[in-house]
Amino acid sequence: MEPILSIENLIMDFRIGHSDSNIMRAVNDVSFELNRGEALAIVGESGSGKSTGARILTRIYKETGGNIRFKGQPLADYVNEHGELEYARQVQMIFQDPFSSLNPVHNIYHHLVRPLLIHKRVTKKDAREKVYELLELVGLSPAVETAEKFPHELSGGQRQRVAIARALAVDPEVILADEPISMLDVSVRLGILNLMADLKDKQGISFMYITHDIATARYFAEKTAVMYVGHMVEWGDSDSVTQNPQHPYSKLLLSAVPEVGRAGKRELLVKKGDIPLWKPESQGCPFSSRCPMATDVCTDTMPDAMEVRTGHFARCHHL
Ligand SMILES: Nc1ncnc2c1ncn2[C@@H]1O[C@H](COP(=O)(O)OP(=O)(O)O)[C@@H](O)[C@H]1O
Ligand SMILES: [Mg+2]
Repeated sequence: MEPILSIENLIMDFRIGHSDSNIMRAVNDVSFELNRGEALAIVGESGSGKSTGARILTRIYKETGGNIRFKGQPLADYVNEHGELEYARQVQMIFQDPFSSLNPVHNIYHHLVRPLLIHKRVTKKDAREKVYELLELVGLSPAVETAEKFPHELSGGQRQRVAIARALAVDPEVILADEPISMLDVSVRLGILNLMADLKDKQGISFMYITHDIATARYFAEKTAVMYVGHMVEWGDSDSVTQNPQHPYSKLLLSAVPEVGRAGKRELLVKKGDIPLWKPESQGCPFSSRCPMATDVCTDTMPDAMEVRTGHFARCHHL
């Protein structure tokens, strides 16, 4: 079946300061497909270009290069007065910090009824019933009471459930979830992941799940792509990528992994100074400056993608 979202050779350049010639490449030749009703986890540490990718997909940024297709059509086909709105409805985003994405002066009812009415998902008469239905769906009951509350009266996990309900209000086909549990208490993270898993499995919603935590990628997503400095270094079925990682960077990520839901904020084994600033003219493997296996070819030449097992790819000269 045709993937719901397909990305080919995506590139995003940002100017550094005001000079037109000083450019950093935040996303470098990224290609992937998101299948209907599946989750694709994009895993990588801070600065690897994950959020930039999501912002391109929600049209906050315009990509420098590459092709994006939604249901087989180039995004350009959705860009007209009516079509842009239609794409915006079908691809919803959930953010890391549910508090900043909710308006403190409005109650929960307002947050959910607004998208329902703007996108004409219900008539005014049926709106209240639909709001309650959405709250029940995301596990916020009793819905009648929750609807009257304000964001500050809810816990972080409950607020993220409201953000998910708001995304669901417009019947999306894809949800881009940008680190949706990383700011929440460890005790409620698994509940949010399980809610998303239910929406995926029972409602067929496709998820792009952005995370720095490869353990939750394995738990939630069918497919996993590992990013480093804007590059996809390894990707494929989550089981294969996480149980049999081939790229030295994926191995490094996995060596730092505890079980899902275990307490504690973990830092990856990263020496910050070694992370390169990638530029359009940069050469070689982006990981070569930190890689214990690096040789001359690694600093000179970008490795091609190799299929290391069926449906599992990596870019490394030393596979
Ligand atoms: N609007 C922007 N202008 C300039 N640089 C940006 C902008 N947005 C992101 N970047 C840079 O792009 C890189 C990737 O950022 P981001 O996509 O936020 O990474 P991640 O979400 O993986 O932490 C970072 O180096 C960041 O500083
Ligand atoms: Mg980010």
